[in-house]
Amino acid sequence: VIKMTDLDLSGKRVLIREDLNVPVKEGKVTSDARIRASLPTIKLALEKGAKVMVMSHLGRPTEGEYDAQYSMQPVVDYLNDALTQNVRLVTDYLDGVEVADNEVVVFENVRFNVGEKKDDETLAKQLAALCDVYVMDAFGTAHRAQASTHGVGLFAPIACAGPLLAAELDALGKALDNPARPLVAIVGGSKVSTKLTVLDSLSTVVDQLVAGGGIANTFIAAAGYPVGKSLYEKDLIAEANKLTDAARANNGDIPVPTDVVVGSEFSESAVATIKNVNEITDEDMIFDIGPETANTLAKIIEKAGTVVWNGPVGVFEFDQFGNGTEAIANAIAKSSAFSIAGGGDTLAAIDKYGVAGDISYISTGGGAFLEFLEGKKLPAVAMLEKRANV
Ligand code: 3PG
Repeated sequence: VIKMTDLDLSGKRVLIREDLNVPVKEGKVTSDARIRASLPTIKLALEKGAKVMVMSHLGRPTEGEYDAQYSMQPVVDYLNDALTQNVRLVTDYLDGVEVADNEVVVFENVRFNVGEKKDDETLAKQLAALCDVYVMDAFGTAHRAQASTHGVGLFAPIACAGPLLAAELDALGKALDNPARPLVAIVGGSKVSTKLTVLDSLSTVVDQLVAGGGIANTFIAAAGYPVGKSLYEKDLIAEANKLTDAARANNGDIPVPTDVVVGSEFSESAVATIKNVNEITDEDMIFDIGPETANTLAKIIEKAGTVVWNGPVGVFEFDQFGNGTEAIANAIAKSSAFSIAGGGDTLAAIDKYGVAGDISYISTGGGAFLEFLEGKKLPAVAMLEKRANV
């Protein structure tokens, strides 16, 4: 693909699609990770002398309607401070925008536009007409084929990858395409069903696939242990067995926890009890992996050449069920493996246990990160490849 870093942007109208879809509370950005990740791209465009237009979606508003709670204003306020220059919010931009050299404007939420989500060609052409160069830098939205992430790139004079998107693709490629082995993937989260395709695609490429959280419960049940009242998916037991067989046929494995932490209710005050996996009673709910399992997994991680992490292994929001996730986070942080982590809950866990500085690469993608792990071609990347070949 063409890269923004290789282009002369001096005096050019540069339209950058970022993923600035950040949580907002009472008009303030409450987690700025995605904005921080996009700052180097915006700054570089400015240094290169561009007239900078930034666009993003925020949340999932109803199309065709302005809705103040999904306005980009809080992000604009943040950028004003972070860039120490006046950043302007533009609400009406589809018919043309005046931008001065070295100025940054931010478009109002692209999902207010009719046709954004269905990648409408007329809208895509309107966006493309605003710029000389379109920069796709929104890795977190690269799995969406929408007017601002995909269609616009087909019609813009030049479509290129921004530095953040390029870095994300490099890091994920390094982890999955030609990884230092053993390659260990940790896939946690509450449901097998939402991660089934990820597990499926990873089971044959990784050396060890570690299932955690509610997902592990289904594997525990598949191994023949009772799981009491734990969240698990009965109808996916056969699928879980198939995944384990596939991993073993590939000289890998999906280890079943040997011990777990149970509680009798899903609550902040639930009492945590460590049990062997064969001691679970009808009343128990599994909320974390036990210390012995955490130890085993830490050893696997210690020996890894590459670690891919998506999803906590327990209900870490409640401290008494967070030891497993903390142990995993620390093991990854200590390991000399190339490590990559992504997903909202995973990032929250990384923050909680203070290991962000010790993970090799933290992705800004949630759904996009998962789709990459699933081995899918991201539509925005496919578009950039197409544009690089014409
Ligand atoms: C995300 O948060 O995963 C991205 O910003 C994409 O948002 P979406 O799921 O609303 O398309």
